[in-house]
Amino acid sequence: MVQNFSPVADTWLRLFLIGGLSLAGGSMIAVIGFARSAYMTDTDTRPHQPVPFSHRHHAGELGIDCRYCHSNVETGPQAGLPPTETCMTCHSQIWTNATMLEPVRKSLAMNTPIEWTRVAKLPDYVFFRHDIHIAKGVGCESCHGRIDQMALTYRAKAFTMQFCIDCHRDPGPHLRPQDHITDMAWQPSPRARKEGEEIAAHEGIRFGELTHCYVCHR
Ligand code: HEC
Ligand code: HEC
Ligand code: HEC
Ligand code: HEC
Ligand code: HEC
Repeated sequence: MVQNFSPVADTWLRLFLIGGLSLAGGSMIAVIGFARSAYMTDTDTRPHQPVPFSHRHHAGELGIDCRYCHSNVETGPQAGLPPTETCMTCHSQIWTNATMLEPVRKSLAMNTPIEWTRVAKLPDYVFFRHDIHIAKGVGCESCHGRIDQMALTYRAKAFTMQFCIDCHRDPGPHLRPQDHITDMAWQPSPRARKEGEEIAAHEGIRFGELTHCYVCHR
């Protein structure tokens, strides 16, 4: 008889294997330590990009809202990277001959997307969606840091399980009003806990359920 594993069973099988192997011997502890280090979690690397795109310039100095380029962030699981046409709304007018922008013009002419190197990625056994976080009042900055100050994009926070769970255990103080979702400089007020709790009550946060394994591994 042929046994087909469901995608869920497959995820758990892989988690079991990774977890099991990690406990297999003392030497594995070093491996886990290595896996948790900044090197593996990529928090300090600015990978080479085909175009030296600067968030500091576009999002910070020019003040273009995140959602102008990452337009699916409120409506879908993925934020999405902008199509070349988005760059060209401006760069067909300004810096039209810059060598730096040659790959952008080529991408438009050839109708092939620019191949950006991803900096913020989860392993495929972790389930994540943007839309629910945005809808419930978690700002971009809480997970991606001060993107508006980055000349070249890097991962500001390690996406460890601990990082996700620390907030899922007690999201209240991390929540902000909707009109500050993409506001990078927003600071919780001294009344953050009370305000967060008000937002949490209003948004119907499911306290106590958010740390269950199946929320992120399914
Ligand atoms: C709303 C307008 C606008 C959009 C959209 C836009 N840019 Fe720019 N970009 C500018 C301006 C303005 C400059 C600065 C020109 C100058 O300094 O004289 C610039 C400069 C640049 C530079 C030169 C380096 C720097 O940052 O100073 C690069 C590279 C660049 N843009 C890439 C892109 C890419 C790639 C996209 C699409 C993902 C994009 N831009 C979208 C307005 C825009
Ligand atoms: C003008 C378009 C534009 C704007 C505005 C913009 N971005 Fe981006 N963003 C890009 C492009 C292009 C990339 C891919 C290249 C790179 O990583 O720098 C990117 C990459 C990213 C990444 C890394 C994704 C990954 O896994 O590689 C994050 C996170 C991000 N943006 C967040 C933001 C946030 C938060 C804002 C608002 C403060 C913002 N962006 C504003 C164009 C934009
Ligand atoms: C709760 C944490 C969290 C918040 C809030 C958040 N992100 Fe992300 N973001 C992530 C994670 C985790 C990934 C990697 C997802 C993956 O690899 O499946 C990611 C990936 C991205 C990417 C890469 C492309 C993609 O679609 O996955 C972009 C761009 C991005 N985020 C932009 C934003 C913007 C803009 C905001 C605010 C409007 C935002 N993020 C808010 C956690 C977050
Ligand atoms: C700063 C706070 C914060 C961080 C960090 C955070 N989350 Fe969340 N997450 C929330 C909130 C708030 C909700 C919405 C809870 C609700 O609707 O009851 C949520 C919901 C979710 C859901 C949807 C649950 C469902 O049933 O639909 C998933 C999946 C999720 N988070 C995964 C992650 C992962 C994976 C990470 C780490 C990469 C992460 N989250 C980091 C606050 C956070
Ligand atoms: C809020 C989201 C979230 C919840 C809830 C969660 N995890 Fe995770 N888990 C993650 C993320 C993110 C990673 C990836 C960590 C990395 O890449 O370093 C991960 C990785 C793992 C791994 C791989 C080994 C490791 O430690 O890096 C195992 C095993 C695991 N989780 C088991 C569990 C179990 C069992 C539960 C329930 C008690 C659970 N997870 C609940 C987000 C979550």
